[in-house]
Amino acid sequence: MLNSKLEAHYDIIKEKDMIGDDRMYDFDSIVDRRNTSCLKWDSLGTLYGREDLIPLWVADMDFPAAKPITEALERRARHSIFGYTFPSDDYYNAVIGWMARRHNFKVEREWITYTPGVVPALSYCIRAFTEPGDKVIIQTPVYHPFYSVIRDNWREIVRNPLKLEDGKYHMDYNDLMKKIDSRTKMLILCSPHNPGGRVWKEEELKELADICIRNNILIVSDEIHFDIVYSGNRHIVLGSISDEIRDNCVVLTAPSKTFNIAGLQVSNVIISNEELRRKYRAEINKDHVSTPNIFGGEALIAAYNESEEWLDELLEYLECNRDFFIDYINKRIPKLKAMKPEGTYLIWVDCRGLNMSPDELKDFFVNKCQLALNDGGMFGEEGKGFMRFNIGCPRSLLKEALERIEKAIDMV
Ligand SMILES: Cc1ncc(COP(=O)(O)O)c(C=O)c1O
Repeated sequence: MLNSKLEAHYDIIKEKDMIGDDRMYDFDSIVDRRNTSCLKWDSLGTLYGREDLIPLWVADMDFPAAKPITEALERRARHSIFGYTFPSDDYYNAVIGWMARRHNFKVEREWITYTPGVVPALSYCIRAFTEPGDKVIIQTPVYHPFYSVIRDNWREIVRNPLKLEDGKYHMDYNDLMKKIDSRTKMLILCSPHNPGGRVWKEEELKELADICIRNNILIVSDEIHFDIVYSGNRHIVLGSISDEIRDNCVVLTAPSKTFNIAGLQVSNVIISNEELRRKYRAEINKDHVSTPNIFGGEALIAAYNESEEWLDELLEYLECNRDFFIDYINKRIPKLKAMKPEGTYLIWVDCRGLNMSPDELKDFFVNKCQLALNDGGMFGEEGKGFMRFNIGCPRSLLKEALERIEKAIDMV
C-alpha cells in the first residue's frame, strides 16, 4: 500500500506540481517564511554564514497551521483586549480529550500544569526534584538542550549511550545499571527519540521504568513528538503503562510539534503524584509563569478539538516524505546511511562513509550542497559524523536538497 503510494508520489514529483489529489490540505505549496523573524529561514546568514541555503535544521515545519487554529487566533485578535487570562475549562478539557482519544491515557484535570515550553519545563523539573550536585541520566545521542538544562542548573550529566544495532537505537539497561549510584536522582527520557526517531515499545519503556523505580530515580519523559508517529508504530505515554510508573514520572507534552505552533509557546506538564506536583508548582511559581499566553491557549483548544483531520493528512504526507527520503538515499546516495524514523519528522543520517572530519562535513553540507542541517555532534559524542535532517517541508524542497547532495558527492 505504502509502496504504491510512494511510487505515485514519485510520478507526481516528476510532473513537478502535485496539487489535485484527494487530499483536503495542501502541504506542497512553498510558503515564503523570510522576513518574519523566522529562526529557520531568517538566521541562516548568522548561523551558517550564507543565506542561499535550504534550511532543514531546527524542528519546526514549513507548513501553515490548520485552518481552525488560524481562525481561532483571528477571532481572539479581533476582540482586541489582551489582558491576563487563566487556563479555561475548555483548555483543560481539550488536553484531557486529546490524551484520551489519541493516546489512551486518562488524565485528570488536576494533573495538568500549563508551562510555556517543554525545555523550560525540563529546567523546572531539575530544580524541583533534584539538588545541585545530583546526577541526571540522559540517553545519548539526544536533543542538545538536555545537556545544557542539567549543566546550567549545576547538576551532573550521566550519559547512558544508546546502542546502535540493526540500524536503530536501543536502550542499554546494563550500562544504565552500572551508572546508577546514590547521587543519581533523575532520568530524562526522550520519547519518541530525537534525533534517532525511535518510538519506544511498551516493553522497552517498562524495563527502563522498572530499573528507575527500583533505584528511586524519577523519570521526566519529554514526549513533545508524541503525535508524529508512522504506520506500524504506536506511541506509548510513559504514565499510561501502570499506576506505579505513572506515579514515578512527569510527562511533558505540547501541541507545538504536532500542529507547528512552537512560536505560541504552550505546553503541558502532567503529574499524577500529588507530592511531585506540589514541588513542581512551587518551582514554577517562583517565576510566575503559570498564566498562558492568550494566543497559545486559543491555539491549543482549536488544535486539539478541531484539527485532527489536518493532523491525519499531515502524518500521511510526512510518511511519504520519509519514505521518499530514505529511498532516495538508499538508491542514489549509498555513501550515506539514513536511519528510518518510526516517528518525528527528523531523520538521522550517518555520513561517516564520506570520510570527512566534523568540520569538513559541515563545510560540505553548507558550501557544497547549500543546505542548513543540524550537525550530529550537537547531540553528543555519539553524533559525530551524523547529520540531522528535518523533513517537515514540501516534498519539492526535500527533493531539491537530495539532488544537491547527490551532485556534490559526485564531485568529492
Ligand atoms: C525532544 C524535544 N524537546 C523539546 C523541544 C522544544 O520544546 P519547547 O519549544 O516547548 O521548549 C524540542 C524541539 O525540537 C524537542 O525536539
